[in-house]
Amino acid sequence: MRLAGLLAAALFGAAAAFPAAAQDAARGAEMAAHRCANCHGDDGRSRMEGIPSLAGQPALFITTQMILFREGLRQVPAMVAFAEGLPDRDIEDLAAHFASLPPGPPEDRPARDPALFAAGQALIGPRNCAVCHLPSLAGREQVPRIIGQREDFLARTMAEYRDGVRVGADSQMNGAVVGLSDPQLAALAHYLSQRD
Ligand code: HEC
Ligand code: HEC
Repeated sequence: MRLAGLLAAALFGAAAAFPAAAQDAARGAEMAAHRCANCHGDDGRSRMEGIPSLAGQPALFITTQMILFREGLRQVPAMVAFAEGLPDRDIEDLAAHFASLPPGPPEDRPARDPALFAAGQALIGPRNCAVCHLPSLAGREQVPRIIGQREDFLARTMAEYRDGVRVGADSQMNGAVVGLSDPQLAALAHYLSQRD
């Protein structure tokens, strides 16, 4: 409740300050080149293990996560310095920039393992992933794009939801992966990372 309230207040603040779609993606691109590209890739596609791609993520998802980082509600040491004290306007411009970049797999995407791919695909329907992430799995609003993401990041982040180490603006994801084994998460991560 406390978490949701804080987030709602922070998001409302951001929306109220910039009513008519005032996001400036060009300004966001300039900031990103200096502050984010080293880790998240200059085209928003991460080439570094453990670091997610941001290209094509819904702007509201990026905004929400940046506010979670800034308020210390999602704790990732590597991100602290880049989110701490960041004004709402900067967050919105950065989000507009990354949302505008064409999504795609990282250059170093490993080859497909057909059996693992099929095992992952078989879990998507029963676990209702498409209900929130859309049938395309490309996400919308505060729900992220999960296809074409780095496999290592997907596997780890789903384990973090399962184990209660990562809790988002709400706990929807924790329920979605509850009870899945590490091999099942590995299969899901492989399937999602191989999808374009
Ligand atoms: C020093 C490396 C580094 C830099 C620089 C950096 N990040 Fe990150 N970022 C990370 C890591 C590592 C994660 C993964 C967090 C995790 O382990 O869950 C992350 C996660 C994120 C996420 C969450 C994405 C998701 O799919 O969950 C967003 C949004 C983000 N960063 C935005 C930014 C922005 C915007 C900047 C520039 C202002 C930036 N980052 C700079 C390392 C970095
Ligand atoms: C009830 C809605 C819902 C369902 C069902 C759901 N998700 Fe999610 N998912 C979300 C939301 C909301 C987030 C962002 C949560 C946050 O703020 O951390 C998320 C985040 C994620 C992330 C983190 C991505 C990133 O870049 O940080 C992954 C991976 C993911 N979901 C995969 C799945 C998979 C695979 C399934 C099916 C097994 C699934 N989700 C089912 C709502 C859902």
